[in-house]
Amino acid sequence: METSFVPGPGTERAFRDALGCFGTGVTVVTALTGDGPLAMTANSFASVSLDPALVLWCPAVASYRHRPFTEAETYVIHVMAEDQQDLALHFARSGGDFADIAWQPGPGGAPILPGCLARFECRRHAVHEAGDHSIIVGQVMRAVHRPGSGLMFKRGQYGGFAGIE
Ligand SMILES: Cc1cc2nc3c(=O)[nH]c(=O)nc-3n(C[C@H](O)[C@H](O)[C@H](O)COP(=O)(O)O)c2cc1C
Repeated sequence: METSFVPGPGTERAFRDALGCFGTGVTVVTALTGDGPLAMTANSFASVSLDPALVLWCPAVASYRHRPFTEAETYVIHVMAEDQQDLALHFARSGGDFADIAWQPGPGGAPILPGCLARFECRRHAVHEAGDHSIIVGQVMRAVHRPGSGLMFKRGQYGGFAGIE
């Protein structure tokens, strides 16, 4: 059965369900703030431009992490590997808890997390207001990646990627 609606008050659940049909990878974004290292799990990551190398992600204005991330001049976007669901869940819950994580300081002190499939070390390029989120556009100063499979997210569930023959 198809569901059709005009997004607005009362249709938030349906809108989220419609958006959830679009499968994504999962990232964890990190930065060093005045209160120490901070992270947030985000699937709003997208590539934007090849030349210059630009990427974006979108933190919610309602999050306590919104302000430090929009103010961070440098930050690192980590693409989660298939076996990093726990790390994604951890940083969805608690942004400042790095106690059990073997991280290294990267550019501007932003934490570099181990075991990721790829990472993009970014310098803030622009921040745009966009409703209840902001769009943070970053210039990629360094990109790192390795072979392997990525963690996927679709319709509220984590999974892997099954290619079509
Ligand atoms: C798979 C996944 C993707 C997410 N993507 C985003 C995102 O793109 N932007 C965002 O603001 N929050 C996103 N979240 C929510 C945050 O990770 C986090 O749970 C939220 O910021 C918690 O609220 P708080 O920051 O006020 O503690 C995502 C959560 C999950 C599990």
